[in-house]
Amino acid sequence: MANIETLSNETRIFSPSAEFSKTAAISSMDAYHALCAEAATDEQGFWGRLARENLHWHKPFTQVLDESNAPFYKWFEDGQLNVSYNCLDVHLQNGNADKVALVFESDSGDVVKVTYQQLYEKVCKLANGLKSLGIQKGDRVVIYMPMSVEGVVAMQACARIGATHSVVFGGFSAKSLQERIIDAGAVAVLTADYQVRGSKHLPLKAIVDEALALGGCECIKNVIVYQRTGGEVKFAEGRDHWLHELVKEQAAECTPEWVGAEHPLFILYTSGSTGTPKGVQHSSGGYLLWAALTMKWTFDIKPTDVFWCTADIGWITGHTYIAYGPLAVGATQIIFEGIPTFPNAGRFWDMIARHKATIFYTAPTAIRSLIKAADADANIHPSKYDLSSLRLLGSVGEPINPEAWMWYHKNIGAERCPIVDTFWQTETGGHMISPLPGATPLVPGSCTLPMPGIAAVIVDEAGHDLPNGQGGLLVVKRPWPAMIRTIWNNPERYKNAYFPAEFGGKVYLAGDGSVRNKDTGYFTITGRIDDVLNVSGHRMGTMEIESALVANPMVAEAAVVGRPDDTTGEAICAFVVLKRSRPTGEEAKQIAKELRDWVAKEIGPIAKPKEIRFGDNLPKTRSGKIMRRLLRILAKGEEITQDISTLENPAILEQLKEAQ
Ligand code: WT7
Repeated sequence: MANIETLSNETRIFSPSAEFSKTAAISSMDAYHALCAEAATDEQGFWGRLARENLHWHKPFTQVLDESNAPFYKWFEDGQLNVSYNCLDVHLQNGNADKVALVFESDSGDVVKVTYQQLYEKVCKLANGLKSLGIQKGDRVVIYMPMSVEGVVAMQACARIGATHSVVFGGFSAKSLQERIIDAGAVAVLTADYQVRGSKHLPLKAIVDEALALGGCECIKNVIVYQRTGGEVKFAEGRDHWLHELVKEQAAECTPEWVGAEHPLFILYTSGSTGTPKGVQHSSGGYLLWAALTMKWTFDIKPTDVFWCTADIGWITGHTYIAYGPLAVGATQIIFEGIPTFPNAGRFWDMIARHKATIFYTAPTAIRSLIKAADADANIHPSKYDLSSLRLLGSVGEPINPEAWMWYHKNIGAERCPIVDTFWQTETGGHMISPLPGATPLVPGSCTLPMPGIAAVIVDEAGHDLPNGQGGLLVVKRPWPAMIRTIWNNPERYKNAYFPAEFGGKVYLAGDGSVRNKDTGYFTITGRIDDVLNVSGHRMGTMEIESALVANPMVAEAAVVGRPDDTTGEAICAFVVLKRSRPTGEEAKQIAKELRDWVAKEIGPIAKPKEIRFGDNLPKTRSGKIMRRLLRILAKGEEITQDISTLENPAILEQLKEAQ
């Protein structure tokens, strides 16, 4: 992968075509600057205008921003709305009842189309079903479901009745699920019998049973099961219900629960550098506003578009750019159940061609693995598919290296489609720094400029603004409507993690390093400044993985670091000290495998270390601090050249060079 130096010095520039700009929502840099100026000179007027223009308010708000209790910012607080009403009812009223909302494609290739009218009915029926079980406004509901129409319906049904959902990605283990259920204090779980992924069927319902059996989940009164495969499941009398039976007798209309704009729409757990995963709490009004606006600004969404975001609803991208944003703007979108390599690595291209997708949004890790696959097998090379429907491409989740960008641009975008490299986070709710496709000249590897209204800047450790060309910390100086509101159950942690006192307690610290190009001012993200890893676009804390490892009875001590990986961006490398003597050869391989499986069980398969190395000890300073800096160098396979005289036991480094 290209290093930061080459990224920030990248000189290739791709300006939007006149044809694209002509119809774009933001059609020139002048238009972009005008919006930025409006936000800077009249912040409240700017956001107030956009909130009135883009959302349906049951009761209008009288105040835009309340910062009296910063950093607990409140937006549009006395306004009332319903998110599901904004995503469904408004389109029925606008004559779009028969427009296709969802084009669902199953793993095996079956296609189901759902119109806005049908989606509305499904959501209302489930909302009524949830109500019939006593679930009400303010209750938390955990959703542990595969990519499916029902998954989106579940989220929207919660929104309709004012229940706060917390979606847990299907790749998380029973233990991770249990921890999230307990922290959220959820009253119900929505799940499926199985999740289909390629040839594998993952028993989601059985994992829910296991999670609840781990204890502490007495708050859960109901488990609702979507029947995906019809495979075997166990049912607990009185607690478990089939979704199809629950909705069967329900009315196809459900009066929405009007909620205050600050009402928590959802909690989504994400990893931090320390401690347990954080329950990122999002609002209803401000969040939905930004979901809708970024669909218009970043994706330039038009009534005729067929939008496809390949994320899973278990991540923030699947929340904002599947479950909410596309529906808020009345778009047609593709939802895909399966994996990009089944039945072969041409699946994405084949689906774009068959469904005539016009906007395609995916992660660099997927692009990189599909480049490899296309190089290896000419039959599934994108040139074999008709991709002429595409007009815009997007990238999300991690930095996209210029080589992958160029491949995407040439082979998928036919050098015609702009690429929006969107930088954002679970906490930001929507895009923060991204090109606007009809305005911004693109530079491979740069997410370019902040969205209008987003006061992103780069500062040094003391919080002082840095000039272009100098790398530092990415911060956002003003609040924005879609920002995280708090960490569920832990407002102190919210303040400490994101609004450090050193910077005055009101500036949002993103947790990423960044540098701006000397000439253009374009941002390049240089990676996390904390102990958070990004593996295939999945965010993971090194400490979480270390805790999982040391929970194994064999393990005395563990340190986890990331190392660059050509396909996954970063790979997890664990350095482990066992309670017994250091294993070697076949035995070491066997124990490494056991530990990998252990981590999969503790957290989920996505957290499995790619590499495990055993030592008699870890490199520590005389005061006992693990020298992670050295471990990172070892993980990369590089020689240690710096002074190691402060090291307690330098001989350990030799042992740790060896991978299992
Ligand atoms: C972290 C957030 C964005 C939604 C999905 C991931 C990294 C994200 C980019 C990008 C460089 C990026 C950052 C960020 N990241 N997008 N376009 N360029 N880095 O959300 O799991 O909360 O992870 O992903 O490091 O902090 P997340």
